[in-house]
Amino acid sequence: MRNIMKVYLLESPGRIARAVLEQIKETLSEIENPVLGLATGSTPLRLYGEMIRDYNNGGFSYKKVRTINLDEYVGLDGSHPQSYRYFMNENLFDHIDIKKENTFVPNGVAKDLDAECQRYSKLVSDNPPDIQILGIGSNGHIAFNEPGSSFDSTTRVVDLTENTIKDNSRFFDSIDEVPKQAISMGIKDIMKAKSIILIATGTSKAKALRRMLTEHYAEDSPASVLQMHKNVTIYADESAAHLIPEAF
Ligand code: GLP
Repeated sequence: MRNIMKVYLLESPGRIARAVLEQIKETLSEIENPVLGLATGSTPLRLYGEMIRDYNNGGFSYKKVRTINLDEYVGLDGSHPQSYRYFMNENLFDHIDIKKENTFVPNGVAKDLDAECQRYSKLVSDNPPDIQILGIGSNGHIAFNEPGSSFDSTTRVVDLTENTIKDNSRFFDSIDEVPKQAISMGIKDIMKAKSIILIATGTSKAKALRRMLTEHYAEDSPASVLQMHKNVTIYADESAAHLIPEAF
């Protein structure tokens, strides 16, 4: 069954970040011990900037919030500047009043990666995010669930596609330094979130956004699984939304 997804088309990534922050504050402030699912990549950076600005201006406090991130590169520990743990500390956690022990990112250098994946999947099942923030890859991936990933997948080690390695190489000195594998929350894990906010900005996301919204859900478009979730809000700017038919 397809559910209705709310789609907001806003004029700029800045407006989107502010609107998403308001939605987060409104939802989390009504929950005693909220869980916020977070993503990496360049898309959520403005949102994290807005969260920090709001916090510095006496806004929302994160003292009672726990966060769960989607993924981490295999082989990079948290002190590596390209690891997602480092990214989250640098771009958000170090600047708000969240307790570090309440922030969860998979351990990409765990000795037993399968055990780490099982532990992480259980963490998500036991603490389903009240809101999960998602970006989208240019090939429609969510977290590191590449096209073809089973909708039943749980947290596991995944091989990154050439497309994703190329997309993410901009953060590394050379493409050879991009890890070839990652630990990724599975699609089934992501769908456990009580609500999901997907942000898509820029023309490189236009095809993936059109595919996920306007065609039938199928595993060639991991993001299309969201058609089956009960509470999804999509925020897109004009460049990401320009291929969506007007009648939609
Ligand atoms: C990475 C992350 C995803 C993210 C995607 C898009 O591969 N694993 O969670 O949504 O890239 O990244 P960006 O926002 O930089 O375009």
